[in-house]
Amino acid sequence: MARPFLFGTNFKMNQTPAESAAFYRQLAASVQIPPETFLFVIPPFTSLAAVSEVAAPPPHQLWVGAQNVHWAPDGAYTGEISVGMLLALDVELVLLGHAERRRYFHETDVDLNRKALAALGAGLRVLLAVGETAEERSFGVSGETVLRQLRIGLHGVPPEHLGLIQIAYEPVWSIGAGGTPASPEDVEPIAKVIRSGCEELFGKLGGEIPILYGGSVDPTNAGTFTALPDIDGLFVGRAAWTVEGFIATYQAGYATSRGS
Ligand code: PGA
Repeated sequence: MARPFLFGTNFKMNQTPAESAAFYRQLAASVQIPPETFLFVIPPFTSLAAVSEVAAPPPHQLWVGAQNVHWAPDGAYTGEISVGMLLALDVELVLLGHAERRRYFHETDVDLNRKALAALGAGLRVLLAVGETAEERSFGVSGETVLRQLRIGLHGVPPEHLGLIQIAYEPVWSIGAGGTPASPEDVEPIAKVIRSGCEELFGKLGGEIPILYGGSVDPTNAGTFTALPDIDGLFVGRAAWTVEGFIATYQAGYATSRGS
C-alpha cells in the first residue's frame, strides 16, 4: 500500500484566533488537495475553536492539529489540556515531542508515551517529532537517539492504532532561525533508521507509518527531501506561516514526491 503524502505547519506561539481562522479559511479556498494527500495546520490552543468553526466537519484532508495534550482524561493539572477537550473542538491531530517542548518544557520520552497512548486510544492522530541535538550528532548517535525516542514514545501502541501515527524527523540543529539547514544526505540515513525502527517495532504495518521531514524547509529545498525514498511529507515552520508560503512549499515538496 502506498503511503500518503503529508504536509503541514506548526504556528508555535504565534497568531490570534482571528489570524489562525483567516489562514485556514484562505488555505482551504486556495488548494485542491489530491487523493492520498493530507495537509494540516497546528495553531496555538487559543485558536483551535476559531479554526474549527471555519473548518468543514472532520474527516477531511485539511486537518486541524494541537501542539500538545495531557495524558490524563481530567483532573488537577493546572494549565493543561485533555484529549477530550481537543476532540470537543473537532481537532484531528496532536503534535507530540516537538524539540521546543522537549527542550524548554523538559518533556521526556516516557511523558510522550503516556500522551501518545491517551491520544491514540481516543482516536486522535499523533504526529510524533523525533530528532537529535547538535551534541548528540557530534558524538555520532543520531540514529540511536531517534530510535530511543521512537521505542519509548510508541511503546505499547496496539496495531489497530498504527494508522493514526505519523513521525516527523526534525534534527534539532536544523530547526528555527538559528538552525543550520540539513542536506538530503543528512536526512536519508536517519529516515531509513526510523523506517526500519518502525518495522522492527510493529512489523509490516509499521513500515507504512508516514515519515515527514522538518527543519528549515522552504520552497527551494522542499523537493530535495521529498525525493528521498523514506520521506513522505514535510513539517514546516517559518516558510509556511503565510498562505502563499505554505502553498509554495507544499507544491515544491509534492512535485518530487512518489505520489506526484
Ligand atoms: P522551521 O521550524 O521550519 O522554522 O525551521 C520547523 C519546526 O520547528 O518544526
